[in-house]
Amino acid sequence: MSNETLTITDNRTGQKYELPITDNTIRANDLRQIKVADDDFGLMTYDPSFMSTAACRSAITFIDGDRGILRYRGYPIEQLAEKSSFLEVAYLLNKGELPNQEQLDQWADVIKYHTYVHTNITKFLEGFRYDAHPMGMMLGAVSALSTFYPDAKNIQDPENRYLQRVRLLAKAPTIAAFSFRHSRGLPFVFPDNDLDYVGNFVNMTFSIGGQHKPNKVLQRALEVLLILHADHEQNCSTSAVRGVGSSRVDMYSAVSAGIAALYGPLHGGANEAVIKMLDEIGTLKNIPDFIKDVKDGKKRLMGFGHRVYKSYDPRAKLIKKVAYEVFDQTGLNPKLEIALELERIALEEDYFISRKLYPNVDFYSGLIYQAMGFPTDYFTVLFALGRMPGWLAQWEEMVLDESQKISRPRQIYTGHEERPYVPIENRKATVTA
Ligand code: ACO
Repeated sequence: MSNETLTITDNRTGQKYELPITDNTIRANDLRQIKVADDDFGLMTYDPSFMSTAACRSAITFIDGDRGILRYRGYPIEQLAEKSSFLEVAYLLNKGELPNQEQLDQWADVIKYHTYVHTNITKFLEGFRYDAHPMGMMLGAVSALSTFYPDAKNIQDPENRYLQRVRLLAKAPTIAAFSFRHSRGLPFVFPDNDLDYVGNFVNMTFSIGGQHKPNKVLQRALEVLLILHADHEQNCSTSAVRGVGSSRVDMYSAVSAGIAALYGPLHGGANEAVIKMLDEIGTLKNIPDFIKDVKDGKKRLMGFGHRVYKSYDPRAKLIKKVAYEVFDQTGLNPKLEIALELERIALEEDYFISRKLYPNVDFYSGLIYQAMGFPTDYFTVLFALGRMPGWLAQWEEMVLDESQKISRPRQIYTGHEERPYVPIENRKATVTA
């Protein structure tokens, strides 16, 4: 018999069970045979926040959090960030292989064809208040796309799925740029299909009276940041896309769930929170007090720590390098000095070392975005733009995976046993609103 098994003794009954181990994993459903009585539901695992539960098999992204490794489809992130364009990486994530030149040209062409949004989407975006959070606008607009493309409901058709993925990839920069322009009271600049993907986004965002002349170093830095954010296996937003998509809703609705998840300060909102934290600290001399508050559990060092990386996030290493290239062009962001000092102290302090807290992707990205001229509330939109190909690839993989059903976790019920209904006139005010 193979020794790739796990033997479990249920001490309640004395019974032994042998469960197969595959890919270093046991199937939670195999535990259901472990019962104390025939009508017993069977043993479950309790895993709030999915700390140790694999919810899918995936061939897209590999992370080794202890060794600080990140690969898309087998290619190290460092090499992709150095050598590839964002569209190339989007192709890789979605199709599984890097494109040759002809395939890349075709991919870029088909995406350009779909960059425009329906006029009613522009009206929809104009309808937001002047101070609307751009991530809220992006979230609303992407989910609204499902009403513009009702054919997206046909998720069983591979060609249709491909068309919708291309559409969203193409329209995401347009929607993102329009959200930016709206918050500035600037007229929308429509896609210029003579420009490449990132160039077009930069032009739609920053152009004032004619084509924007981009700083090539900054534009490439932005492209690298998008590449670094393009996928990160089963993180909170990707799990949201997969979970919502598992109901077989259209892809725009599923991706908007991912955007909503990314909006949160513990996920994509962290780089915005880093800038706020650096502003709050203000000067180098306030750092010791701040660190003390963190160690006393009163504050969090934003941009530090990660559910998966228990060593330096490889993206943070690359981003730090990009930061210096950008600051070379724009002049030093004064907050960098505070960030560097925070990092230096944190990497030496036992509190952070013992908890394996290292800088994550968000620690430096906000400083770069700020130097590029993006307001803080826009950072998460840039993250969403970068993560789009990953969400789309993960959604496609989920749809094609025959072992996936509608996502439906179990619970351990902790409420009342059955009790008789109380008429309203007999109820006491036991719960405060
Ligand atoms: N600052 C101070 N202490 C921290 C931090 C932090 N940034 N992160 C974790 N800790 C501490 C916790 O207080 C806890 O300490 P304890 O054991 O004494 O209670 C311990 O480290 C473990 O922390 P958890 O919250 O259990 O770790 P988890 O894996 O759930 O959280 C997370 C990961 C959410 C990223 C967390 O580290 C955090 O809040 N970081 C700051 C926000 C941030 O930068 N998010 C971006 C993540 S990257 C991304 O989404 C792209």
